[in-house]
Amino acid sequence: MARKKLIAGNWKMNGLLADGTELAKNVAAGVKALGKPQCEFLVCPPFTLLQAVKKALRGAKVALGAQDCHFAEKGAHTGDISPLMLKDLGCGYVILGHSERRADHGESNELVCKKAEAAHKAGLKTVICIGETLAQREAGKAVDVCREQILGSVPTDSTASDTVIAYEPVWAIGTGKVPTTADVEEVHAAVRKVLAKKLGKGNANKMRILYGGSVKPGNAKELLNLPDVDGALIGGASLKAEDFLGIAKNAGCC
Ligand code: 13P
Repeated sequence: MARKKLIAGNWKMNGLLADGTELAKNVAAGVKALGKPQCEFLVCPPFTLLQAVKKALRGAKVALGAQDCHFAEKGAHTGDISPLMLKDLGCGYVILGHSERRADHGESNELVCKKAEAAHKAGLKTVICIGETLAQREAGKAVDVCREQILGSVPTDSTASDTVIAYEPVWAIGTGKVPTTADVEEVHAAVRKVLAKKLGKGNANKMRILYGGSVKPGNAKELLNLPDVDGALIGGASLKAEDFLGIAKNAGCC
């Protein structure tokens, strides 16, 4: 089952108008220069840059996404952004349940699931993040934790067309540490099995499972060519167009 790789950048809380626009322009130019890449591209800037980045990406095959949303369509939720607002701005995707949101904002599986349902209803695709902490990995619980997060965070009517999973071991994020390729493949294969039970084999076989956590041009080839790894969710290295595109090239996108 051929799944088109997704190379996704999560800019997190980085970028002001000038440098964010410049980065998006460089990504757009780089992707255009690839001709007909075998992968899809996505960038997820902070809310404040969505409009400017959308403009800078014009004409390039790079999707736009946000990093979170509320589950309500509108209403009295000071400081929050609804899925409809993101759709209205031209977003195609939203990242949900990132470990930084689970940790900083106490987001539970139930909340992530509610947000994902609302995002799908608004016509957004979701990138739902899962991943174990170092203590959980050392206790041999990585697969169990990911299973629980999938079961709790992914809506039961999700399909391969509206949902992408991102496996991001918390201890690998921003640390330069990456699991062994065997460990990555073990979790990805296990996640696909859980997805098959929950959503049916057809969806599970088509659904993309990204790896995230210290992905760089130098490790992209070995990580992104594993059988069940269908792309990357990239933090730090997505803030440099050269590195972001270097990851795509080394992953075999062109
Ligand atoms: P780094 O690539 O900086 O490790 O971040 C990964 C991540 O959290 C992407 O969502």
